[in-house]
Amino acid sequence: MHQNTPTEKTTENQQLRTTGGYKNLNRFSVAPMLDWTDRHCRYFHRKLSRHALLYTEMVTTGAILFGKGDYLAYNEAEHPVALQLGGSDPAALAQCAKIAQERGYDEINLNVGCPSDRVQNGMFGACLMGNASLVADCVAAMRDVTDIPVTVKTRIGIDDQDSYEFLCDFVGTVAERGGCEMFVIHARKAWLSGLSPKENREIPPLDYPRVYQLKKDFPHLTMALNGGIKTLEEAKTHLQYMDGVMVGREAYQNPSILAQVDNALFDAALPVTDTVAAVEAMYPYIEAELATGTYLGHITRHMLGIFQGIPGARQWRRHLSENAHKAGADLRVIEAALEFVTRKNITE
Ligand SMILES: Cc1cc2nc3c(=O)[nH]c(=O)nc-3n(C[C@H](O)[C@H](O)[C@H](O)COP(=O)(O)O)c2cc1C
Repeated sequence: MHQNTPTEKTTENQQLRTTGGYKNLNRFSVAPMLDWTDRHCRYFHRKLSRHALLYTEMVTTGAILFGKGDYLAYNEAEHPVALQLGGSDPAALAQCAKIAQERGYDEINLNVGCPSDRVQNGMFGACLMGNASLVADCVAAMRDVTDIPVTVKTRIGIDDQDSYEFLCDFVGTVAERGGCEMFVIHARKAWLSGLSPKENREIPPLDYPRVYQLKKDFPHLTMALNGGIKTLEEAKTHLQYMDGVMVGREAYQNPSILAQVDNALFDAALPVTDTVAAVEAMYPYIEAELATGTYLGHITRHMLGIFQGIPGARQWRRHLSENAHKAGADLRVIEAALEFVTRKNITE
C-alpha cells in the first residue's frame, strides 16, 4: 500500500492549489461514497479526469485516531483529493485535520449530510444540521490547525426543519462563526428517522431552485450543488447558477461520464482517448497492487460500469464479476473481459 509522508509534497500540493495549478478545483467533483470511493476507485476515476476533485469515503475521527488500519492511505496520483471526515468533537476533528494536511490532502470536508442511524448515534452526519454552532466550532477548530480549505457537505434541511430560513441560518452561522468558505449542498432534505440512507437519497424531492437561491444570497461563499445529476449537460445548466457540481451515483455507475469532464467543463484536453485506454492505463497500478496482495476484484469492482450502453458491456461485467475474485486472478482476467468490448464498439 502506498504511504504518503508529510514531505515537500504537501507544500507542493498547496502551491499548486493556490497558484491555480489545479483548474477551478470545486467546479466538478465526485462525491464521497462509503464503500464505493475507496482509493482504488479514485485511482481509476483519476485516469478518466485530471481535473475532477475526488472525495474519499467518509472516515470517522474514531477510525483515524483509534483504528488499527491506515484509513488515510492514498496514491499521489489521486490529487486533487479531499478527505471527508465524520465526527462532531472539535478537538478530535482538529487532530484529524492536522494529520490529513500532513498526509497531503488538498481539502478537508465535514459530513453534515449522512442520515444513517449509526452516524446519528455518534452524533454526527445530517443531525448536525440541527446544531449549527457546534458545526461552526468544528470548522473553526480544524481551520485553526490547518491551511488547506475546510469545507462542509450538507442537506437543505432535516425533518421538519426544512424552511429556507433554517438553511440560511445554518450556512450563515457556519460561514460567519466557523469561517467556512465552501459548501456542497445536497439539494434534498434528510429524514432522520423512518427512511434508510438509500431512501434518503431518493425519496425527499430535489429542490434545485432553493440551492440556486442560497448561492444568490451568499454570493461570497463558494457553493457546489449535489444530487441527481446524470449528464454533463445538466451539470452545465447548474453551473450557470453555482460555482460547482458534485456527482455521486452516476459517476460511479457510469464512469465514462468522467472521461468527458476535462473537455466539457474545464476546457482541457482529455486524459485518455477512450474508455478502453482508461482500463489499459490501470494495468501498471493493478500489477503493483496485486504484488502487495490486493485482490483483483477489489479494484475491478469499481470498473464494472465503464462500458455502460456499449455492445459487450454485459459480458464485460459478467466476466469480471465471475473471475476477478478468484485466487490468483490477474491482468489476464481483464484482458479476456476486454475481448467482449472491442475498440471498434467504443468509437462507433
Ligand atoms: C453508496 C453511497 C455511499 C455514500 N456515502 C457517503 C459518504 O460517505 N459521505 C457523504 O457525505 N455522502 C455519502 N453519500 C451521498 C453522496 O455523496 C451524494 O450526496 C448522494 O448520492 C447524492 O448525489 P448523487 O445523486 O449524484 O448520487 C453516499 C451515497 C451512496 C450512493
